[in-house]
Amino acid sequence: MRIKRREFLAGVAAAPVAMGGVSARAGDAVTLEAAPARVQIAPAEYGQTQVWAYNGRVPGTPLRYRQGDELSAQLVNGLEQGTTVHWHGLRLPNAMDGVPGMTQPLVVPGDGFDYRFTLRDAGTYWYHPHANSLEQISRGLAGVLVVDENTPPEVDDDQTLVLDDWRMTDAAAIHPGFDNRHDMSHAGRLGNYITVNGLPELTRELHPGARLRLRLVNTATARVFRLRFDGLKAWLLALDGMPLEDVAETPEVVIAPAQRVDLLVDVTAATGEEALIASVERDGAYAMAIYRVAGQGAVPRDVPAPLPPNDMPVLALDGARSVPVVIEGGAMRGLPEGATWQGTKMDMRQLAEAGQFWAFNGISGVPEAPLIEAALGETVRVPMANRTAFAHAMHLHGTHFREVLPGGGMGPWRDTLLVNLGESREIAFAAENPGDWMFHCHMPAHQMSGMMNWIRVV
Ligand code: C2O
Ligand code: CU
Repeated sequence: MRIKRREFLAGVAAAPVAMGGVSARAGDAVTLEAAPARVQIAPAEYGQTQVWAYNGRVPGTPLRYRQGDELSAQLVNGLEQGTTVHWHGLRLPNAMDGVPGMTQPLVVPGDGFDYRFTLRDAGTYWYHPHANSLEQISRGLAGVLVVDENTPPEVDDDQTLVLDDWRMTDAAAIHPGFDNRHDMSHAGRLGNYITVNGLPELTRELHPGARLRLRLVNTATARVFRLRFDGLKAWLLALDGMPLEDVAETPEVVIAPAQRVDLLVDVTAATGEEALIASVERDGAYAMAIYRVAGQGAVPRDVPAPLPPNDMPVLALDGARSVPVVIEGGAMRGLPEGATWQGTKMDMRQLAEAGQFWAFNGISGVPEAPLIEAALGETVRVPMANRTAFAHAMHLHGTHFREVLPGGGMGPWRDTLLVNLGESREIAFAAENPGDWMFHCHMPAHQMSGMMNWIRVV
């Protein structure tokens, strides 16, 4: 693999930003102020970009706690529109889930909301608004939440890499046009400028043989990243925060919007060489993280052990109810005759006029009745058929699910599953957490144009 440097990087010295640092700890109530800010995400010659950010940072203030700690965060809304904070991937009380109109009122400008809950699970999570999501996330509102295990694996460094994709104008402003019907009905709002921790590329130094824990977080609204390694040996440790039972070496990582991948990585490049993480794109592979290898070598290590598991529910597939979900709509395929929106049957043209392009089981948008009503303790199977011409990142709030594999085996615990075009994939979840929980595509251009339904656990 020949890895290129991005052209626009010529002459730009990207200053690394410490993301691993502990900025919030148990005991302190952290304030997250969502407000406009100016940050340097474009190369220096472009100047700063006006974004919306948590505490003026892109990504927002990194939050770090230990498993079992209580998180206490006060959202302050400094935007000119309503917002909330959703804690993505966390199993928390429903009232803390941050979905306006469903779990809490919209937080109006100048107002605040206190989030407080116990962190049951260790792992890599993130937070983002759940109101006007396409615009708010695309303008920069997203931050990482790391919950450390009580006995984390021994590593030389623990780094978080936040992958993002921005649609920028020639003047390095965030492109408006959040009502772009083409984005809604096609692959979502794909960007033209990729960043790692808010920078065009990340540069660090490492010793040969160093062992790293890398936490990858995709906060992009549409882009699926495919990453390759050079001079690094990588093992998969966890997906969407949840540890894998077996640690497997992996040559590449595919990470869809909202997903997280925890890796353990050993530097195999020698002193004087570079180790790289590259993004494989249509026209080649581009370096995203560059590790200059220098100094003395570390001792060779054993194959890493799995992370301690979180306390997950039992999935009782035998006799479990099955609720099939057919995903339809979008360009090239369109919606079925008689799809409904807000309880009213509409034809495709009427739906498009209302900004609705997608449906689950013929229902566009958030209906009055849940897609699934499950009894506490029940296991529910959801076979999903993607009959659209696009991939979707299907996300369930409040609990993780596992994929029921075609051979009958079970996939890893996840909170977001990439379902490619034409695919049929089945998931199963245990109704372990009472409340009303969103079930939607995590490409907000799709989410806001029909792919947003909900389940109720009673
Ligand atoms: Cu991260 Cu409803 O989403
Ligand atoms: Cu989608």
